[in-house]
Parts: sequence; C-alpha cells; structure tokens
Amino acid sequence: MPNRNPYTPGFGLSPPTLAGRAGVIDETLAALRAGPRHPRFCFALLGHRGVGKTSVLDAIGERATSELGWPVVHRQAMREGDLLGDVGEGLIPALGHWNRLGRDYRHLEKDLSIGFNLGVVSAKAKAKANVHSTATAEGSGPGAFVELLRKVGTFARDHDSGVLITIDEAMTARRPDLVGMAGAIQTVVNRSQLPIAVIFAGLPSFREAIGVAGTFAERLSVQNLADLSPDASRLALVEPAAQLGVRWAPEALDLVTARSAGHPYYVQLFGYHSWEAGGGAEELTVAHVEAGIRVAETDLHGQFEGTWGRLRPQEQSFLSAVAVIGGSEPVPIVAVAASLKRSTGQLDVARNRLVYQHGLLRSPGRGQVQFHSHQFGDWVSENHAVVASPIRPNTSQQAQNIKAIRARPQPGRGFER
Ligand SMILES: Nc1ncnc2c1ncn2[C@@H]1O[C@H](COP(=O)(O)OP(=O)(O)OP(=O)(O)O)[C@@H](O)[C@H]1O
Ligand SMILES: [Mg+2]
Repeated sequence: MPNRNPYTPGFGLSPPTLAGRAGVIDETLAALRAGPRHPRFCFALLGHRGVGKTSVLDAIGERATSELGWPVVHRQAMREGDLLGDVGEGLIPALGHWNRLGRDYRHLEKDLSIGFNLGVVSAKAKAKANVHSTATAEGSGPGAFVELLRKVGTFARDHDSGVLITIDEAMTARRPDLVGMAGAIQTVVNRSQLPIAVIFAGLPSFREAIGVAGTFAERLSVQNLADLSPDASRLALVEPAAQLGVRWAPEALDLVTARSAGHPYYVQLFGYHSWEAGGGAEELTVAHVEAGIRVAETDLHGQFEGTWGRLRPQEQSFLSAVAVIGGSEPVPIVAVAASLKRSTGQLDVARNRLVYQHGLLRSPGRGQVQFHSHQFGDWVSENHAVVASPIRPNTSQQAQNIKAIRARPQPGRGFER
C-alpha cells in the first residue's frame, strides 16, 4: 500500500517533478556554455513568493555541476549579512570540485587560502565597522572580493571551466553589497570576460534594490518566473503519484489544478493533503481532494494571519479596500483611493510595498491591482474587509462582496492610525 507522500509543500524544497521549467533551465545552461559574452550569462530570476525561484536555482546549479563540471556556490542574501564575505567563504570549498585537475588545483587552493585569509576576512571586519562602506580600494571588502573572483575566473578560463554563483533572496541584500557585487561582475565578467556567472533570484522589488548599481542595473537581464500552466500543474501532481503507483481521477485532478491556479506552492500543498486524505488509496478522488483542501486551507489561514500581522496599517487598509471593491478580481487604483478618501499619490508607498516588497498584489493592467493569490484575497474578504466604500458597485461580484461585508460587524480600522 503506498504511503510515502511525494509532495513537498514548503519553501526552498525542490519538488519531485519540477514542472514547466525546462525552458528557463535549458536556456540558462546554453548561456553558461556560451560564456560571458552571452547576454544572459548573469541575470536576475524574479517572481512572487512561492513561484519556484529557489527550486529553479537549485536545478540550474545541479545541471551546471553535472553537465558542465562547474563548481557552484549558493548563497542567500540577508539584511544583516555580509554578502561578499559569504560568497567568498562559500567559494573556497566549492572549488574542491576541481580536485580532478590535480596539481594545478592544489596550487590554486594554496594561493587562495593565503589571499582569502588576508583579503576577505579583513574585508569582513572592515564591513562590520562601517556598514555603508562602498570603497573599492585594494584590501577593502569589494577590492579583495574582485581579486578573489579574478583569480578563480582566470583559473576557470585556463582550464576550460567556469563557476556559478547564485544569490537567492537578492532583494534583501544591503546596498553596499549590491554595489560591490555589481562592480565585481562588471570588472571580472564584463570587462575581463572571465567565466564567473552570477544569478540573482528574488521578488520583483529586486529591480528597485539593484537600482543603486546604476548602468549595471539597467543592463542586467531579467527573467520573470510565471505561475504554472494548467498542464504543468497536472504534470507536477500526476508524475510523482504515478511513480508510487497512484492515479488521480480526472475530475479530482481538474479540481486541484483549478484551485491551485498555477501557484506551485498551492499545487504541492493541495496535492499533499489530498494524498493524506486518500489514506493509501490507489486512486485519489474528488472526495479526497475536497477533504484535503479543507485541511490545507486551515494551514493557509494560519500563514495569512502571520502575513497580515506583519503589514503596516496603511497596507492592511489598502488590501481591505481591494477586497471590498473587487474580491480577487482586478481593481482600479482610483477606486481604492476613493474608498479610502485619499489621492492615488498618497497610496503609492503602500501600493508599491504590497506589489514589490510583499508580493501580495500584482498589476494586471495599467492603474489596476489584484490579489496575487485568490486564496489570500478570499481570506481578506472574509476577515478584514472593513472599508466603507463610497464607490457604487458595478459588477455582481462587487455587489456581493459589499453586501457580505455590510452584514458583518465592522471593527472599524481607519487608513491612518
Ligand atoms: N515547477 C514546479 N512544479 C511543482 N512544484 C514546484 C515547482 N516549483 C516550485 N514548486 C514547489 O513550490 C513551493 C515553492 O517553491 P520555492 O521555494 O522554490 O519558491 P520561491 O519562489 O523560491 O519562494 P520564496 O519567494 O518564498 O523564496 C515548494 O513547495 C516547491 O516544492
Ligand atoms: Mg525561495
């Protein structure tokens, strides 16, 4: 009887079937093979929370190692971190992959262990002393980092290899780190044409964060990771089950696919709980899916509470207004502004943070916003839709929302508290 649940609801957990991503992964491998002249040799992989950025980075890293024989360094940027020092520290052990190159590699290792101790470590101390330092002089943080990359890159070029550095959660990196990283890429990869590829992954707000790096930011190519197509969602569900001898009834599969709306995290979460509800059955049915989704929604509501609690009051009010006016449908920002009795300009900060920083809203068209996840939109509608909208509803959806909300007790939450 099958009992090992194959689905992986979580963050940073690679799925058993990485559906719908062959295109971006193949293109990246082709760019790495082509070398630093390729416009996508270094790029940013952007997308909303849970769309699968880390899973794609991991898959690219695995293939860079297995197919190209490249050392790979994965690092996660942190607000309080020292990105250049972390990448430098990760680089040295990753180069062990070149052990097969024998004496040449041992020379490099020796060379770097001396340079590394004198350079990057002292750079870390300096960076700690002055977090806003962007100095590039020899011996300072970015200067030592550039030298490290240059040595490693020269070795890679001379041995017909390359190095891949991936920087996840890149939007959280400190400004000096982004400036330092951009400067290093420009010097070592763009100008000296050494094969050190860097892939940044993060929320769409990375575009603004990297803006501090000037022309580098303008030229960095961006790959936006979209939600899964219905076929990809189906594949992500069917293949792992089939490998364990379990089928999905066609209507059950349609239901999970529709309810997860292409969001990879929901595909895994609903798949996981449907499997649990199946209790070892060889076919997963609509009844299993319905039971599974009920459990999954309890999990999700707990997560939504946490997300809501981390928002500023203005952001909460903005979301409430979106929920009141359109539910999970697109809503004109002018309507949000009118319902909150503010100008659209006064809402810019809240809107931008909700779209770019939190990834909770998206812009489906000019001057519009929409909940990224309709589950979150529904939850806000049910729990926090407290804005008295002066806008007359013009669709049945809006009319229903407003009627439902008016029927509820209103805790009263102003826009600015
Ligand atoms: N192509 C895919 N097919 C099926 N499931 C996927 C796919 N990509 C990711 N997942 C699943 O979706 C969830 C989120 O994936 P991942 O952590 O890679 O997203 P992310 O974009 O890095 O999220 P975050 O923004 O929180 O860092 C995980 O449960 C993962 O197993
Ligand atoms: Mg991630």
